[in-house]
Amino acid sequence: MAAGSGNAGLPRHVAVIMDGNGRWATMRHLPRKAGHIAGVAAVRKVVRAACKIGLENLTLYAFSSENWKRPATEVGALMGLFRLYFQQDVSELRDLGVRMRIIGSRTRVDPDIRTMIEESELSTAHNSGLNLIFAFDYGGKEEIAAAARELARAAAEGRLDPETITPEMLNSRLFTAGLPEPDLIIRTSGERRLSNFLLWQAAYAEFLFVDTLWPDFGEAEFRAALDQFSHRERRFGALPDAKA
Ligand code: IPE
Ligand code: IPE
Ligand code: MG
Repeated sequence: MAAGSGNAGLPRHVAVIMDGNGRWATMRHLPRKAGHIAGVAAVRKVVRAACKIGLENLTLYAFSSENWKRPATEVGALMGLFRLYFQQDVSELRDLGVRMRIIGSRTRVDPDIRTMIEESELSTAHNSGLNLIFAFDYGGKEEIAAAARELARAAAEGRLDPETITPEMLNSRLFTAGLPEPDLIIRTSGERRLSNFLLWQAAYAEFLFVDTLWPDFGEAEFRAALDQFSHRERRFGALPDAKA
């Protein structure tokens, strides 16, 4: 069934690596910051489309744990845009029934951003519409290491027998605990890599790499991605039904 003509065939969880803002700006002889501003506009379009479509979970990769390596001016511009986004958009998202969650480290970001993150989660916690997850100062390796550290601590303190550790136990200690794994991971801008995004959770995700730069991605491109997903055959290691 084509995505958009009903809930059947819709992925439960779509995750997006929003890439290509810088190239979008450079092509227009604009500063990179202009690309990030246009990127925020694309976030708004895709979030509204996801609400309209009735998607359950949408994760957007906004800032990686490696993005701190960029020049301070660019990091500063990005942080400024996050502040603006939280200030301008949270009340609309709340009214749309969106529940917000921000995954990633909270130790490196400025305290005022940390407060905005916490308030956005608190003020939307009662909502039951789209789960909108921002991966912000997020790194998959760090996330897995932190979960392993927690299990190791419990074992060292004698609260846990290491022989009983299961994938589910590690999973429940990730930032994404309680969320279904992404069914579809989209990366824009033609790059074909994960860049430390949802490493554990991507075990059985379908990947879609599109050449569109993130600022040019909107509702039509999002619907086209869902449609492509609806034609994928997922096996999870087993045989397709007809051949079983
Ligand atoms: C994605 O766009 C946004 C972030 C990583 C924050 P880029 O800034 O990576 O854009 P390109 O890849 O340089 O075009
Ligand atoms: C990944 O994009 C991070 C985000 C989209 C937030 P990058 O542009 O940072 O990834 P690399 O450096 O090209 O792998
Ligand atoms: Mg990039």
